[in-house]
Amino acid sequence: MTALQAQARLKVAVIGAGYWGPNLARNFSAGADWDLVAICDLDAARGQGLADRVGGAVTVYTDLTALLARDDLDAVAIATPAKTHHGIALAALRAGKHVLVEKPLADSQELGAEMVQEASVRGLTLMADHTYCYTPAVLKIRELIAEGALGDILFIDSVRINLGLVQPDVDVFWDLAPHDLSIIDFVLPGGLRPTAVSAQGADPLGAGKACIGYLTIPLQNDAIAHVHVNWLSPTKIRQMVIGGTTRTLVWDDLNPQQRLSVYDRGVELTQQSVGGADAAASMVSYRLGDTWSPALPEREALGAMVAEFAASIREERAPRTDGEAGLRVLAVLEAASRSLAGQGLLSNLTGAHTPVTDAERVAVVR
Ligand SMILES: NC(=O)c1ccc[n+]([C@@H]2O[C@H](COP(=O)([O-])OP(=O)(O)OC[C@H]3O[C@@H](n4cnc5c(N)ncnc54)[C@H](O)[C@@H]3O)[C@@H](O)[C@H]2O)c1
Repeated sequence: MTALQAQARLKVAVIGAGYWGPNLARNFSAGADWDLVAICDLDAARGQGLADRVGGAVTVYTDLTALLARDDLDAVAIATPAKTHHGIALAALRAGKHVLVEKPLADSQELGAEMVQEASVRGLTLMADHTYCYTPAVLKIRELIAEGALGDILFIDSVRINLGLVQPDVDVFWDLAPHDLSIIDFVLPGGLRPTAVSAQGADPLGAGKACIGYLTIPLQNDAIAHVHVNWLSPTKIRQMVIGGTTRTLVWDDLNPQQRLSVYDRGVELTQQSVGGADAAASMVSYRLGDTWSPALPEREALGAMVAEFAASIREERAPRTDGEAGLRVLAVLEAASRSLAGQGLLSNLTGAHTPVTDAERVAVVR
């Protein structure tokens, strides 16, 4: 790519003009890096409605093949249901387009891996829209953990519940947990690479799929992560607590005045000898310090996300949330589905089941 090409605006099409596609289209239109040149949706009226709203010279397609035949198109962004991501992404990559895919990357790990492989062979960018990884709050959390402000991570507890749309093609784990999992993957040094997970779900209204889900993920050094996702809660909660040996962080995404709070508090376990030479007892001591709230800029995550997509294409490097990050999330989701089918048995990421321990069972049902 020449320096001149590197400076030129890239041309992009958004595929899928339902709920989320318009947010992508708006950010591509507003960004300095992109020219939004096309919208593609099976529903022509929906595609046209979005094209009218964003304005400019935007052509509407209902036929993916016709869209991908455009040789002036650099990239596509896919905001269609999860089960269609693989087919559309492969077609776009084979037509030489860079691809941004909504979460989850695909509806199976195997299909996601095929997408990653296809992009790699062709030297094209494949990026997952793990939107939260572009929010000021999550960037700050990652920074604090990386600089050791929390100490060693002991636990992560994430709650994402509200009255949500029961999705036609996926259960609540595949719909909502990609957010929590991609965030945990992004903030943990080394990413999210558990060996096993345990999931329990419920469908109390008979929707035909889990609408309430609890996911337990053993982490390194006996730490643990827990994710609660729920479409049936009249109260909306978006909260993550990350406990460390020196500080604990609370992220309340619905509290714009104080999204992040850092508690300078910790628990220490010391061994004390009691009586005889070998006898020892554990003493728990608590340290209670101040609480502070880091200042965060108010900025739309999707603006930074589409800028990163352009930068990764221009600089011919992996984007911050690349296909591999998408695959790590899919690996956990697949293991969660296997665990769900096995009544919450701990499921290895390779697929084998091992009995869940009492400690993990307690964590799941608390
Ligand atoms: N990043 C986020 O925060 C976020 C938020 C919501 C949804 N999403 C993701 O966005 C994707 C879309 O979700 P949604 O809620 O917008 O769905 P939606 O059902 O509202 O919209 C999907 C659109 O895709 C169109 N479509 C379906 N198949 C197509 C095909 N083969 N070719 C062209 N158009 C096709 C449909 O006609 C529809 O207009 C999902 O993967 C979802 O998980 C991401």
